[in-house]
Parts: sequence; structure tokens; C-alpha cells
Amino acid sequence: MTERPIMTQRHFLQFSDFSADEIAHVFTRSSVIKDRFKRYQPYHPLSDRTLVMIFEKASTRTRLSFEAGMHQLGGSAIYMNTRDSQLGRGEPVEDAAQVISRMCDIVMIRTFEQAIVERFASNSRVPVINGLTNEFHPCQILADVFTFIEHRGSIRGKTVAWIGDSNNVCSTWLQAAEVLDFKVHVSTPPGYEVDAARAGVRGTAHFEQFADPLDACRQAHLVTTDVWTSMGFEAENDARRAAFENWCVDEAMMAAADPRAVFMHCLPAHRGEEVAAEVIDGPQSVVWDEAENRLHVQKALMEFLVLGRVESP
Ligand code: CP
Ligand code: NVA
Repeated sequence: MTERPIMTQRHFLQFSDFSADEIAHVFTRSSVIKDRFKRYQPYHPLSDRTLVMIFEKASTRTRLSFEAGMHQLGGSAIYMNTRDSQLGRGEPVEDAAQVISRMCDIVMIRTFEQAIVERFASNSRVPVINGLTNEFHPCQILADVFTFIEHRGSIRGKTVAWIGDSNNVCSTWLQAAEVLDFKVHVSTPPGYEVDAARAGVRGTAHFEQFADPLDACRQAHLVTTDVWTSMGFEAENDARRAAFENWCVDEAMMAAADPRAVFMHCLPAHRGEEVAAEVIDGPQSVVWDEAENRLHVQKALMEFLVLGRVESP
């Protein structure tokens, strides 16, 4: 029996793992799969396939969208966490990857350092998806860009304003800008600026940093933000609350943006901190579509990673 060599296995560990053409394919399939879901038309291409989901951090949307998504594709999903498995008791990541990937068809991991998903993937026989690390959140930006395209058409040449922390979600936006050729205007408090090397971007052509968040928002087609303190950084909470006080996306920032700008937030949100209630609950906000689209794009992502390119009718 021949076995697929581990080295050629595709994974989605950061946004730049996929080409623009592959992202376009996943978006085409996302639309088809979403349309079938809305019409209650069963679609079970992953029948008898198993997704293992490993969570070392909390989640609502990521767990729900992967678990429901795999079920809707005809397969099963198994939830594992560090508290009640050997993962939290020091078993090497490499050993866990060898064993887990012999028993399932695809793995999703939410964890701390990006190095953990990379070490897992290097020892996995099946595709591995990054469900959020300290460094990146590629599934989120897949959903966000898909949502933008649904509402406003192609993102190529457009401007995204990122207000707040240069965190995992911000870094993933910067990678997406390089892959899909758009621009990101970033505004962070002093000391929290983008580090291009940490963000894994090739250069600075696709982003610009602004001291004043209002300037970052000018003419933007999409304004987005995220929590001031990400999971794993809770010890910095008090310092961050003070530093980020003026980086709350409010109506003045939305007014500086393009009149047709949309507002996004990966959620969970803290109204009155990184975003004003008037904005996230206002007419330009597309956050519920954005959250729902996690389901559709991740179903297309799993289809692509397990079955390769499925042609659309
Ligand atoms: N946006 C996001 O990943 O949400 P969860 O933390 O609830 O999964
Ligand atoms: N930046 C946030 C995103 C949560 C979905 C975090 O990492 O906690």
C-alpha cells in the first residue's frame, strides 16, 4: 500500500499558505455551499470523514462553525482540549500529531504559539487548519474578505482600516493584503505598532501605519477592530486599557471612512472599549454576516483540503 508522504500535505496555517487563485477557488465553493445550505439541500462530500478539533483556548464561533460545518458536509467532528486529554500533560506535539492524524482526515487547532501548529503539521498525515494562534487567525480573514466581497465586490485595490492592537487578526489582514492586493491602514497606540517580520509579510507595500486612528479611517472601504487584550495576554489587561483608550471605533471614525464603508469585528466584542455600540449595532455593521460566513468558508476550506479542487456546477 502506498501512503501519501507527509511533506506534500497541504495545510492552512497562515493566510499566505494559499495563493490568490486558491483563495478565489475557496470563495467560489463557499458561495455554492452557502447557497445549498440556505436551500436545505444536503451536501455530504465528506461522508465518513472525521475532523479532530483541538482547543487550548476558549471559543464560541470557531468550535460551532467547524463542528456544525463538518456535520453538514456528512462527516463527524471530535472535540479535544488540554484539560481532559494527554495534550495538557506533556505529551510531545509531534507524538500527538502522529497518533491523531492516523485516526482522522483533517485537524483544526486553536492554541498559543504558531510554532505548535507548525510542529503538529510537520508530523501530520492529514491537513491541519489554524483555528487561531497568538500570531494568526487565517479562518477569520477568509470569512471577512468573503463577507466584504458579498457586500461590496472585489477587495482588490480597496483600503481596510485596522484600528487597535497589531494582534493575530491584524497580522492576518496584512498577509491577506499581500495575497489579494489591497491596502491596510493600521493605527495602534505607541508601542503596539506592527512588526512586519512577526506578521509574516514580505514588505511594507500593502500597509501603512498612522498615529491618529481618524487618519487611518479616511476613505477606507472597510473599518475593523478587535479586542484590546487577546487570549493569553490577560496579564497586560490594565496597561492595555489605559494605552488603547483613544482607539475605540466610533461614529466620527466611521464618518471619516468612505460613505459606503462596512464595519467588521471578529467577535467577541466589548462595546464601549474597542468599538462604540452605535457602530457595531449601526447600519454599516456586517458583523452577523461575518460571523455566519465562518461556517460557509470553513466548509469550503475543508472540502478543498480533503478532496482538492471540486468543480462547481
Ligand atoms: N472570532 C472567533 O474566532 O470567535 P471565537 O473565539 O468565539 O471562536
Ligand atoms: N485577537 C483575539 C481574537 C479572538 C477571536 C484573541 O486572540 O483573543
